[in-house]
Amino acid sequence: MARDGAVYACQSCGAVQTKWAGQCPACAGWNTLVEELQSRPPGALAPSSSKVARARGLAFEGLEDETQAPPRIATGVDEFDRVCGGGVVPGSAILLGGDPGVGKSTLLLQVAAEAARRGARCAYISGEEAVEQVRSRAQRMGLADAPVKLAAETALRAIVDGLKREPFDLVVIDSIQTLWSDAHEAGPGSVTQVRAAAGELVRLAKSRGVAIVLVGHVTKEGTIAGPRVIEHMVDAVLAFEGERGYPFRILRGAKNRFGATDEIGVFEMGDAGLREVKNPSALFLNTSGERAAGAAVFAGIEGSRPVLVEFQALVAPSAYGTPRRAVVGWDSGRLAMVLAVLEARCGLSLGDRDVYLNVAGGLRITEPAADLAAAAALASSALDQTLPQDCVVFGEISLSGEVRAVSRMDSRLKEAAKLGFRRALGPAEMDGGGVMRTTGAGRLADAVRRIGEAAWD
Ligand code: TYD
Ligand code: MG
Repeated sequence: MARDGAVYACQSCGAVQTKWAGQCPACAGWNTLVEELQSRPPGALAPSSSKVARARGLAFEGLEDETQAPPRIATGVDEFDRVCGGGVVPGSAILLGGDPGVGKSTLLLQVAAEAARRGARCAYISGEEAVEQVRSRAQRMGLADAPVKLAAETALRAIVDGLKREPFDLVVIDSIQTLWSDAHEAGPGSVTQVRAAAGELVRLAKSRGVAIVLVGHVTKEGTIAGPRVIEHMVDAVLAFEGERGYPFRILRGAKNRFGATDEIGVFEMGDAGLREVKNPSALFLNTSGERAAGAAVFAGIEGSRPVLVEFQALVAPSAYGTPRRAVVGWDSGRLAMVLAVLEARCGLSLGDRDVYLNVAGGLRITEPAADLAAAAALASSALDQTLPQDCVVFGEISLSGEVRAVSRMDSRLKEAAKLGFRRALGPAEMDGGGVMRTTGAGRLADAVRRIGEAAWD
């Protein structure tokens, strides 16, 4: 029997139930419901704004009325600013999510320090590390001179009082899962606490005009509430990602009320913190040495920027009854489709061979435009023929084996030309503008034939 005031919150999706169940009815996760004592019933967490509206009367405005673009604080970390939509908006709340150890604290310490050096009043409040630890990290990163105010605190009340006493432009809270509010009985990291703390900090951001960045650890298991439970409260959700073993880190916008969400920021983790990578193409490409059979350079678009990245494939005889298919950095369903089209429409027999596909540098590619690059890498390996050293590839492949035009073909070609590429294999519609030699392939079979015969005029 549920006790008075007891509710069950899913630690994965945040849905609140009045009865316990083994499986969350909202997200179907198992064993994620945990009893939490609520001081207020769910749904009454936010003060009702409709009451305020009723008192004042509701003032309508037209869509065409003038609106000032929100002012922005440029933090000086350009890759971060761009993903935010051109700087941080005062009075907004940003959630930065990512796996533990990916570099969230490092990034935000750098952002706070650079912004402070440019005159913004910045605070960094850590609930995970002591002030000495943060300070010594800042020293190692060469940021010791930046006028950032540091504090180590986990009590929400103390943080809110402190931020009300002193005006700031930018405040980093690291992390939301360590905070606890004395208004709630549930433990730190629980859905109730994380929601309450986020709610209060978002209100503070709005009322004081201070930009607040909340760090949220992404957790696979439901021991602490994931950042998903507060995504709807904040103005922007950024994800910090990195493949294990690679120094590269990608900052992605997942939601942004003040900008586009398809931007990425690229960083490299080194001994002195994160270094911004202004030209990611150079990073993900192996520009020196011969291109091996099985390699194809994809001319992609990440956000507003063209990015060149190498697809590497290995097609090898299988030693076992069931051939292996392994893919890193690309969708395995997409790989299965491309393999099926290569087999059915291009006469390549791959069914009894092991297939490995890897996107170099730890980048994850989601664009359908990468189909042809993957197919070219696979065909190149299967036929043991290299692609020309100076060739980029892009195009979407349909099940019927056609190569379809993709968005922003001009930007892709321009970026490739800038990096010394002189040839492109892609949809028939592309136009090299006299700079790039284009090999248009209406069908995948045309592209495969060219690779097999090394017919590159
Ligand atoms: P951190 O920012 O603490 O990660 P998070 O806050 O997301 O949990 O970064 C942790 C990792 O980054 C740690 O394994 C060490 C590495 N690192 C460096 O390689 N160089 C550096 O200069 C710093 C500060 C961290
Ligand atoms: Mg950290």
